[in-house]
Amino acid sequence: MNNTSILTADLNRYYLADETAMVRDLLERARPISGKETRIHETAVRLVEVVRRERRESSGLHAFLNHYDLSSEEGVILMCLAEALLRIPDSDTVNRLIADKLSAANWERHLGTSDSIFVNASTWALMLTGRMIKLDDAVHHKPVDTLAGMATRMEEPVIRAALKTAMRIMAHQFVMGRTIQEALDRTHEEEFKHYRYSFDMLGEAALTKKDADRYHDAYLSAIGAIGGNTPVTGSVLDRPGISIKLSALCPRFEFTQKTRAITELSDRLQVLVCAARDAEIGLTVDAEEANRLELMLAVFENVYLSRELDEWQGLGIAVQCYQKRALPVLERLQQLARQANRVIPVRLVKGAYWDAEIKSAQEAGLKDFPVFTRKSNTDISYLACARYLLEQCPLLYPQFATHNAHTIAYVYHHAGGRDYEFQRLHGMGEELYDWVTDAGNLNRPCRIYAPVGAHEDLLPYLVRRLLENGANTSFVNQIVHEQVDVDAIVADPVASTEAVGDKIRHPRIILPADLFMPRRVNSPGVNFADDNELKPYTLDIKAALKTQWAARPRIDGRELSGQKISITDPAHRDVAVGTTEYADEQAVRLAIDTAAGAWPSWKTTTAETRAGMLERAADLFESHRAELAARCIREAGKTVRDSHDDVREAIDFLRYYAAGCREHFSEPLALPGPAGEKNRLGYRGRGIFFCISPWNFPVAIFTGQIAAALAAGNTVIAKPAEQSSLT
Ligand code: FAD
Ligand code: 2OP
Repeated sequence: MNNTSILTADLNRYYLADETAMVRDLLERARPISGKETRIHETAVRLVEVVRRERRESSGLHAFLNHYDLSSEEGVILMCLAEALLRIPDSDTVNRLIADKLSAANWERHLGTSDSIFVNASTWALMLTGRMIKLDDAVHHKPVDTLAGMATRMEEPVIRAALKTAMRIMAHQFVMGRTIQEALDRTHEEEFKHYRYSFDMLGEAALTKKDADRYHDAYLSAIGAIGGNTPVTGSVLDRPGISIKLSALCPRFEFTQKTRAITELSDRLQVLVCAARDAEIGLTVDAEEANRLELMLAVFENVYLSRELDEWQGLGIAVQCYQKRALPVLERLQQLARQANRVIPVRLVKGAYWDAEIKSAQEAGLKDFPVFTRKSNTDISYLACARYLLEQCPLLYPQFATHNAHTIAYVYHHAGGRDYEFQRLHGMGEELYDWVTDAGNLNRPCRIYAPVGAHEDLLPYLVRRLLENGANTSFVNQIVHEQVDVDAIVADPVASTEAVGDKIRHPRIILPADLFMPRRVNSPGVNFADDNELKPYTLDIKAALKTQWAARPRIDGRELSGQKISITDPAHRDVAVGTTEYADEQAVRLAIDTAAGAWPSWKTTTAETRAGMLERAADLFESHRAELAARCIREAGKTVRDSHDDVREAIDFLRYYAAGCREHFSEPLALPGPAGEKNRLGYRGRGIFFCISPWNFPVAIFTGQIAAALAAGNTVIAKPAEQSSLT
């Protein structure tokens, strides 16, 4: 990556920064200018009242999403179902999943509890479907028979078809058109006439070059169509535009492939941006997952500084305020714009991937989260960033993308004389923005982000919208619940944060290291999207890769000789990795005798001692993790990431079974003895266990088998796979 990059220099200091310290700083920046509090509150209240009054009859789907929001078990089931349907390729598994999910819920309790006919009808359908599956269960008792029963009774998979229809209805809510032409035609309809547009050709996270080519072509032809549809007048900042997701354009848009990703994406983006410039429309690069931010900025900077764009100011970028790096990104964008002396349109968003960011940081064992853990912290970050844009960045053109009345009111009352626009998503915030754009009211321009595409490309986008509409912390969710007080909905986030005292970080969002506490610590990971962590780790791996390893049978601490085999790297058969010696029959016999001889003392070794040994092993694995990963890479031909994950899982297995050992093997459990007798339940080892490693998970699975057997008081003969004996 370009070391002199303006946008990325020293940015990752903030990647996983301490949330409390950051929010305390942002809080002061977001505090409303004295005297504006009342006006902000009044405008926000007015907006909420307008939305509640104007809520349209047609919003049956909104009513549904709100009724089944994510605070109800049934809402979560529907969400899981929609999300899982994304990944299931075959109809049989889809049917099984539907059966599993729908029959688990209590749909009856929702019946007739909504004002909306749409919601009540849907509840009936869900209830009947759930019942039908339950009935089948009762008749046949076995899930397999249930499925067989369903398959024979239904000529076609009715439920799957029904769910597809439900998806289509939702698609209609959130998608402007199946084709760009259809979407462009709709912009002439009365309800859309007064808006600006940024069209989004649905599709993201390309997995193959073919996908990336297809999305690239779709963007290109959309740019042509949008340009052709609009008379060339005014500034490009006021004209329609297109939104681009870089993940759609490169199947290896990941930090560990940065050279390739930056080169390919810069080339692709350059083509699209030049086409947009020729068509006189704007182009915005969407913000995606936090681990793509640095690459995205590098690509943006490359294209922005290219000679061809000299005077053009239509290349924009989205910045997510839930990320701890938001304000530093804006500072660097302003610096970049100053260097080129050219405007950058900046779309300020809160961020659409929050749930995934939290989960993947926990899964990866990161030191902290890249995003804030309280909704009000994100709001504060947004307000602080808005103030920074409005007050200190004359070369950044602010585009405030939000559906939140308080956020809108805050921006409106702090804008001074600055030119800026609001933005909303198609299918959301209609009533709110009809009022904001109205000449007699706030009279501010608003742009609609308008997704275009077919069903198969919609699902990731749809899931994000369902999460957003279903979360009870979301403004769009709260506003339709009439019982939620207006003052609570428009509460000033600065005041809300001050009210939580020193609990600025959300206590219930568990830090990655504490994920399994109090039972065990999570095995620490490496942030593969940050060179500050990745570089030292890969240096250790590279050093270890130079080693020639030698493995021999080892019994009770003593090494034996055997038939010697040379091991080579499976990816480079001419690269020697080391040698291994195979155990012969005599060695096997000795191993069995030794394990049998050791068993009596091992099974009576206290659980605490056995657990302590497993934990020491975990610590040793941890301190040798680069070497273990290097062995997986060299001998099993695994990627760095896979090897790292394999070692982390092994460490976790050791701690998991150590905890299990203490729990189940320490003291026998006293059972209730109604007749006065004493009954105690205790577990003990069974003898010798024989563990064989699979070649492709030579650390994790092998260690897991061995650790479980040892924890339970057995002795173990461990045999590696021939292909990964050194590991
Ligand atoms: P609010 O209800 O005020 O805020 C909801 C947001 O708060 C959530 O989306 C999340 O970001 C945050 N949040 C929720 N819970 C927590 C928590 N516990 N801790 C911390 N934060 C939390 N999103 C992208 O990621 N990339 C884009 O490129 C992008 N482009 C967009 C373009 C437009 C025109 C619009 C309108 C939105 C875009 N979004 C994008 C989506 C946007 O991020 C969400 O719509 C937005 O976050 C919702 O914010 P709000 O102010 O409307 O609602
Ligand atoms: C998303 O795709 C709108 O970019 C935002 O969720």
